[in-house]
Amino acid sequence: MTGNEIREKFLEYFERHDHRRVHSSPLLPANDPTLLFTNAGMNQFKDVFLGDEKRDYKRAVSSQKCIRAGGKHNDLDEVGKTARHHTFFEMLGNFSFGDYFKKEAITYAWDFLVNELKIDETRLWFSVFEGDDEVGPDDEARSFWEAVGAKPDRILGYGRKDNFWQMGDTGPCGPCSEIHYYMGENPEDPVKNHPKWVNGEGDTMMEIWNLVFMQYNRTLEPDDTFKLTPLPAPSVDTGMGLERITAVMQHVKTNYDTDLIKPIVEFAASLGTR
Ligand code: SER
Repeated sequence: MTGNEIREKFLEYFERHDHRRVHSSPLLPANDPTLLFTNAGMNQFKDVFLGDEKRDYKRAVSSQKCIRAGGKHNDLDEVGKTARHHTFFEMLGNFSFGDYFKKEAITYAWDFLVNELKIDETRLWFSVFEGDDEVGPDDEARSFWEAVGAKPDRILGYGRKDNFWQMGDTGPCGPCSEIHYYMGENPEDPVKNHPKWVNGEGDTMMEIWNLVFMQYNRTLEPDDTFKLTPLPAPSVDTGMGLERITAVMQHVKTNYDTDLIKPIVEFAASLGTR
């Protein structure tokens, strides 16, 4: 499958499940002084999550152009060191604005990866928020992963750094659940296809999809502290790196070897030989 076919398959899958197909917004956010560049699919829906804007749909799907080269989500320092960072990328995302929540988001993600893309589930690991003194553990997400078919020992708990997503210092946020893919040769290798590599060093495991359960708005208070307030309606914001899932589907080791990026690299290299 080409990268373009994977993008279309994702958009078409969620359209089939009653999501409105929405264009990518520009890389320069229109009305948001908190961001220099668009850094996630949810940016264009920020006011919808906050309840300040209404649309004539409650479910959306998009492939959003993103740049992560500064601010809270900065991939710049990783470029050249990992197989999966390149600052500009496309994020496939499905969104619910007060419609479905954790159960459906997890069921769709499993169905798309395992049944549509036919990904080997013995290569998949799932992470959930284990809670801290501000927000409790996400036992619901864990039980929904088990209900769709994930093995309990493949569902791992992490803290705020890995499993609580926020766009910036302020704005909509919530606990998240990530799907990681084992990139090694043999899924039966007990040393490499092992939880210690999830959120760990190197490219043995790659995060492919992040499901954010948008539940709060984080605001800066006059006394310079941050406050979490529940959103008007619990919502869903997911993001899957198009180049990452394409690397998985094309069985290549780095995003740079996918048909989305390789022709650009080859063209640039050919300029030196002309
Ligand atoms: N907003 C989340 C992220 O960027 C999910 O889309 O990872």
